[in-house]
Amino acid sequence: MKAKAVKMADGVYWVGVIHWHSRTFHGYGIPGTTYNAYLVFGEEKTVLIDNVYRGMFEQFDARVHDAFEQEGKEFKIDVFVQNHSEMDHSTFLRQTIDEYNPDAEIYASANCIKFLEAQYHNFSDLEINAVGTGDELDIGGRTLKFISAPMLHWPDSMFTLLAEEGILFSNDAFGQHVAHSKRFDEDYDTAYLLREAQKYYANLVTLGSPMLRMKLDELTNTGLINDIKMIAPCHGQIWKNPAPIVEKYSEWGSGVCKDKITVIYDTMHHSTEKLAYQIAEGIMSEGVEVAMYFMQEDGPDDVITDILDSKAIALGAPTMMNKPFPRIGNMMYWLDCVNFKGTGSEKNALIFSSKGWGGGAVAKLQNDLEAAGFTVTDTLDVLFVPDEDVMAEAFEKGAELARSIKE
Ligand code: FEO
Repeated sequence: MKAKAVKMADGVYWVGVIHWHSRTFHGYGIPGTTYNAYLVFGEEKTVLIDNVYRGMFEQFDARVHDAFEQEGKEFKIDVFVQNHSEMDHSTFLRQTIDEYNPDAEIYASANCIKFLEAQYHNFSDLEINAVGTGDELDIGGRTLKFISAPMLHWPDSMFTLLAEEGILFSNDAFGQHVAHSKRFDEDYDTAYLLREAQKYYANLVTLGSPMLRMKLDELTNTGLINDIKMIAPCHGQIWKNPAPIVEKYSEWGSGVCKDKITVIYDTMHHSTEKLAYQIAEGIMSEGVEVAMYFMQEDGPDDVITDILDSKAIALGAPTMMNKPFPRIGNMMYWLDCVNFKGTGSEKNALIFSSKGWGGGAVAKLQNDLEAAGFTVTDTLDVLFVPDEDVMAEAFEKGAELARSIKE
């Protein structure tokens, strides 16, 4: 296979792979993705940063060799840097070391070393140097600075800064799942890219928000933030202009939300749906943005994306056998997993339901939402089909929820 490496700066190349037809990753829907790896040529050492996912070695291998051809240098990798051990970035690490240079130096965080062995069971014979914040590597006229970044995305995650050029190899952080023929932020509509980055953050990084805040503070306090001219993540486009994504990470990680309410519902005979639509009208009557999801058709990953920057949610499910309609359950588990509370945002919730007789959905949803960190401010439990009086009540409850987030 032939594949060209993409030059990012003098002696710095993208040598990753494009997974055009990947449609799910980590349990959520994506429009394709990339697994980015990078090659850095120093005067004395050539460094390969990160690796790629299963089925992708040929494309990766072709690109790595092409980078050497473009540089006009004899093929030789001197150093492997592994920023994170998850399989999408490490599947071929051992094979690559064995084929490219078994005597190369290898650098990773202490947790990464442990996690590699626990996943592949074939790393224990290698001498891997444990590094973290404060450690540096001189590769000849160029310096790699290692920066520990736990929980962005796993406890083993690390950033590597190419100091002279200000290129931050950030692994999962600042990534997006997109599959584009070009490599940089400027090749995409920024709003689209930031929306994909929001989906990525909401579903993968939200849990690590407290660590993100500490990391951004640390980069700011040490002045390193001013040295970063380009952010090269391990998924999606490379940020030649890092300012928009750093600003968004700062907002998402600290619970900055819009005047926006995400309405989520499921329905059996359209009664709960009627309530959802009416509540949305009430919210909109107060000039507040609505994102609407119907869980028969929509995925929990998209719901999570919109909840990230919503100040409140309205959640509805009919009662079935004294419990919420089960199809709402997948989304509820996702909500509980991502832990929005960690961002610092306080999110209100309105719960609504249509029941046939005894009910039960509202109490269960309230219990689960409160456990997930939401403040349930109001409920609406309706007998069978809502009449005009109940619809008016639903409208007013939507409007009241909207007013509550504007105060
Ligand atoms: Fe893209 Fe945590 O792996």
